[in-house]
Amino acid sequence: MNNHLIFNKSREGKVGYSLPESDVPAVLPADIFDESELRSKDASLPEVTEPEVIRHFTNLSVKNHHVDRDLYPLGSCTMKYNPKVNEVTSQLSGFTAVHPRQPEETIQGALAIIFGLEEQLKAITGMDRFTLQPSAGSQGELTGVLLMRKYHLLKGNDRRVILIPDTAHGTNPASVMMGGCEVRNVLTNKRGRVDLEDLKKKLSENVVGMMLTVPNTLGLFESDIEEITRLVHEAGGLMYMDGANLNALLGIVRPVDMGFDIVHINPHKTFSTPHGGGGPGSGPIGVVEKLVDLLPIPLVERQGERYSLNYDLPNSIGRIHSFFGNFGILVRAYTYIQMVGRERLSTLSRQAILNANYLKHRVQKAYDLYIGDHCMHEFVLTAKKQKDRGVKALDIGKRLLDFGFHAPTIYFPMNVPEALMVEPTESETMENLDRFAKALLQIDEESKTDPEKVQNAPYSTPVRRLDEVSANRSLNLRWMPE
Ligand SMILES: Cc1ncc(COP(=O)(O)O)c(C=O)c1O
Repeated sequence: MNNHLIFNKSREGKVGYSLPESDVPAVLPADIFDESELRSKDASLPEVTEPEVIRHFTNLSVKNHHVDRDLYPLGSCTMKYNPKVNEVTSQLSGFTAVHPRQPEETIQGALAIIFGLEEQLKAITGMDRFTLQPSAGSQGELTGVLLMRKYHLLKGNDRRVILIPDTAHGTNPASVMMGGCEVRNVLTNKRGRVDLEDLKKKLSENVVGMMLTVPNTLGLFESDIEEITRLVHEAGGLMYMDGANLNALLGIVRPVDMGFDIVHINPHKTFSTPHGGGGPGSGPIGVVEKLVDLLPIPLVERQGERYSLNYDLPNSIGRIHSFFGNFGILVRAYTYIQMVGRERLSTLSRQAILNANYLKHRVQKAYDLYIGDHCMHEFVLTAKKQKDRGVKALDIGKRLLDFGFHAPTIYFPMNVPEALMVEPTESETMENLDRFAKALLQIDEESKTDPEKVQNAPYSTPVRRLDEVSANRSLNLRWMPE
């Protein structure tokens, strides 16, 4: 494996560029920086030619599984196709060559995009205002927790408890703790929904609010949502929607109509900006009127044809991110919504739901469903039967790589034994869904006839089973030469 590293192609003196002779005096780092700030030895960078660099990274890119290669059913992550037009618009020099510290009148185009995206998100969710600052869904959650807590503090109530269903995404409890509040789990009933009796028991005068994912992480719509929001509001709490799964609801139901006071959106999922591998995201937060003046500053306002920055929110929780958040991601999301057309967004969600239900139907004769109900945009299988034959969810995920598919999410939600969480998204055709179903059915057959074959998969990838702990913890495995 190691001789595939770009460092192995390195030979002293090879270069990938040539510059004309300099006609100005050289300025060396030592002329500018303090001795203590300079590196003591050269960075060990590979010396390679331009074609070598291009070939190296082109070859690497096709070794990896990505959404431009094949179906990527990573549940909870919405790995839909990212239209390339998003890249064109976000790279326009009018966006990439401006600086956020420029005078307002010289960044009118950028402010127009922020304002326009906020208008779209308001219409989609029914919320009164948005901040686009948070740089991920999880940072949106933290913003939401800070907003909710401050809302109560301003009313003189030092409430601390935030209710979260036991199936929630891990970022929910983490954000609550970071925001200085406490988590109280609410149980899930046999139908995979919030257990109303348990919710009633957990409500108290100390409840800041409830953080609820809709559709929930089992891919199910919270059918008691109106009762849930009524109960929490009656106890003086606020309703926070984790809207990371909004891809199932676009144009079908608005968070505000379900009774939510705050919602975060994951544009990198719902509105198709490339994500995964820790790339940039964003996590806009929308709020109802009574929370608007707590939002992070500044907000973008429009007066006629002019856009301006409004810092005048006396109760603002402050900034949550520098400047305007991850602006390039916002341009991509805006492009996507404009290209699809807001009125047509519901066709995406309906297709995502149809695709998930079709696929579920195709595979449920071999795999057990965790909850045998109509699903939204994703569904959760439990590979208990296969495990009894010696084949774990992990093995199934690995074997799928041999069929050219990325694995579904495994072992999440954590309360589901041997979970396989499948989210095909609306991008896939029926033929692709059939190919994926066929692969899953074949793997089930293999678990009966030749379990070892599945246990030892994958066979077709550049590396077989990785030492995942070391791969995640030892950064030098990724980059440095030996
Ligand atoms: C349900 C849910 N909530 C929250 C998040 C966190 O979002 P992010 O990864 O942008 O921080 C995710 C991520 O996919 C999610 O699926």
